[in-house]
Amino acid sequence: MIKVKSEEELVLMRKACEITRDTLNLIKQNIKPNVTTKELDKIAYDFIISKGAKPSFLHYEGYPYSICASVNEEIVHGFPSQNKVLKEGDIISIDVGACYKGYNGDAARTFPVGKISAKNKRLIKITEESFFEGIKGLKAGAFVGDISHKIQTYVEKNGYSIVRELVGHGVGKNLHEDPMVPNYGKSGYGAKLNKNTTIAIEPMVNMGERYVEFMPNGWTCVTRDGLPAAHYENTVLITEDGVEILTL
Ligand code: MF3
Ligand code: CO
Repeated sequence: MIKVKSEEELVLMRKACEITRDTLNLIKQNIKPNVTTKELDKIAYDFIISKGAKPSFLHYEGYPYSICASVNEEIVHGFPSQNKVLKEGDIISIDVGACYKGYNGDAARTFPVGKISAKNKRLIKITEESFFEGIKGLKAGAFVGDISHKIQTYVEKNGYSIVRELVGHGVGKNLHEDPMVPNYGKSGYGAKLNKNTTIAIEPMVNMGERYVEFMPNGWTCVTRDGLPAAHYENTVLITEDGVEILTL
């Protein structure tokens, strides 16, 4: 069942999403060579708590950290670690959520560490652009498949592949709600999106093949071919005549 949010709920959603966005911006400022991903996790935790919110991911289905920090061939759900030291040329995907008065924001970005290769730059750019392709023309009455199809088409046209094992989702009181929002599919198919529904749209894009593997920790998803991947996610509100990107 897809929940429609009341105006009162949307006030809290907007606030949760602002905190989520501000956390990403703060982490961005702290990304540089020699920083550990554990330090970034602490920065996020402290900031979210200081805003009167809670990290949405911490203890979610047993997830042990406040952020996901996925470096290079790690696609999503990378565990922050004091042994993971960022180095010049890495790319790092940061995924974070803040829960404010019971409502969740969810967003992700892939950031460069220092100077990165032109290939990695392009991967990050196309991934980000695929999100904006996905929301083109999106408004109440659209189908989830409309988003999926636009993202897939744009990514594949640019020579990259879409991860299929993980998908976007509704978001609100729960971090993951109906509907699922795959980054691949057919226009006109899937759930219909009504006014005042909130969804997280999150393309995960591999530079090489689409295939993935999961690490022994049961969470971290990596590319099978070892090539890098990027992630871009925003929480989006569907309105009568368009969308409001709540985490931008
Ligand atoms: N944005 C990711 C997702 O929607 C982050 C979830 S990490 C988890 O699936 F730990 F909270 F599951
Ligand atoms: Co998400």
